[in-house]
Amino acid sequence: MAGGNLPSRDSFSSKFGIIAAAAGSAIGLGNIWRFPYIAGENGGGAFLILYLAFIFVIGIPVMMSELTIGRRAQLNAFGSFKKLAPGKPWYLVGFMGVIAAFMILAFYSTIAGWTLQYLYLSITDAFSGKTQVELTQVYDTFLASSYMPSIWQLIFMLLTGWIVMAGVKNGIEKYTKILMPLLLVIIIILDIRALTLPNSMDGLTFLFKPDFSKITADVVLEALGQAFFSLSIGMGTLITYGSYIRKDNNLGSTAISVSLADTFIAILSGVAIFPAVFAFGIQPDAGTGLVFIVLPNLFSQMTGGYIFALLFFLLLSVAALTSTISVLEVVVAYFSEELKMSRKKATVLASVSIAFIGVFATLSLGPLKDYTLFDKNFFEILDFTSANIMLPLGGLLIVVFVGWYLGKDKVSDELSNQGALKLPLMGIFMFIIKFIAPIAIAIVFMNGIGLLNL
Ligand code: PFF
Repeated sequence: MAGGNLPSRDSFSSKFGIIAAAAGSAIGLGNIWRFPYIAGENGGGAFLILYLAFIFVIGIPVMMSELTIGRRAQLNAFGSFKKLAPGKPWYLVGFMGVIAAFMILAFYSTIAGWTLQYLYLSITDAFSGKTQVELTQVYDTFLASSYMPSIWQLIFMLLTGWIVMAGVKNGIEKYTKILMPLLLVIIIILDIRALTLPNSMDGLTFLFKPDFSKITADVVLEALGQAFFSLSIGMGTLITYGSYIRKDNNLGSTAISVSLADTFIAILSGVAIFPAVFAFGIQPDAGTGLVFIVLPNLFSQMTGGYIFALLFFLLLSVAALTSTISVLEVVVAYFSEELKMSRKKATVLASVSIAFIGVFATLSLGPLKDYTLFDKNFFEILDFTSANIMLPLGGLLIVVFVGWYLGKDKVSDELSNQGALKLPLMGIFMFIIKFIAPIAIAIVFMNGIGLLNL
């Protein structure tokens, strides 16, 4: 009986704890590392507008749908679909989420490992007095080495596994509440420094002034993928977290707060990075290394750079950690509830197998970079397939499930906490998840992969 495992389930203890954990999942490398470099590769301002539109029109409704599924079923992503749609193949959506979690964590932990290396470099004061060229060399040398990036990645996976094993409430909820606000303060200070650099306006123009000639089918799909990736939606992370949310929480306002916080941090990161990119004469489409080259440069030029570098990379590691935890939790909840493993065994098995795949992702940026498929190395394949294909597809199926299968009565019952809350926007919400979101995702997706030619 599915309900049989309810008493042993962990849960969040407070409203702020829920927001901190969900925002902790959403806010991470996706905002500070991925957003600037993907925006840089896809034309800046025009990309930003598409990204924002996708967050509001598609992202928030998908997030609310996920929370609805999870809290109603009180199970992992796979089990939730199975419970809400018995005998139907909807559980495959949950299964795809588990696979996506494997893929995302495998490449995400690569970059998370870099943040530890850069934290270490900050501690040893490795940036001060270095020129742009030297800082690029520091980055290139680190990447080309075969074992250091992998070792940091394994350490990061170990940390993630260790916290996940401890459970939801006593690990992550406690720390995210303090650390996420601190991250915000540091980014704002970096913004101020970046904005006072020479030529900072060029950076802002790049980020905010839309050049619609830059919009292609690829750029639209990248913007959709980035919106999904950044909000942690489309793969059951928020179904899983939703299952730990108590029945009196307002899911709609939780989804909106989390999405706004996530978007705000992404924009603040862009404002810290692009003025610096232009001031130092770096190409905005420099790719995955963008943040790791630009920000040390900024630190090496600012008063108190040592301490800011230290704090920044510490907080970036923490932001990454609160995200990796949520991804691992998807797999661990699935292993423990569906395959009936102990939490400990599930965590070890998930972490070890993900770390194994992850090492290949890491090496594919260094020693194995010449092994490519469709011009993409292994890291890029994992990133592209999960963010741009699996998450939008997952999101599409999730809104269709909630809009058409669960239906208005059950959805409003769940979102209104069994009638306790008023839902003035329920009609609009249902219209979006039944029609707008699925159609928009389908069009962007088919256009992006070339099945449709607009
Ligand atoms: N949203 C996270 C970030 O922006 O860094 C990454 C992520 C976490 C993606 C959890 C997907 C996920 F399920």
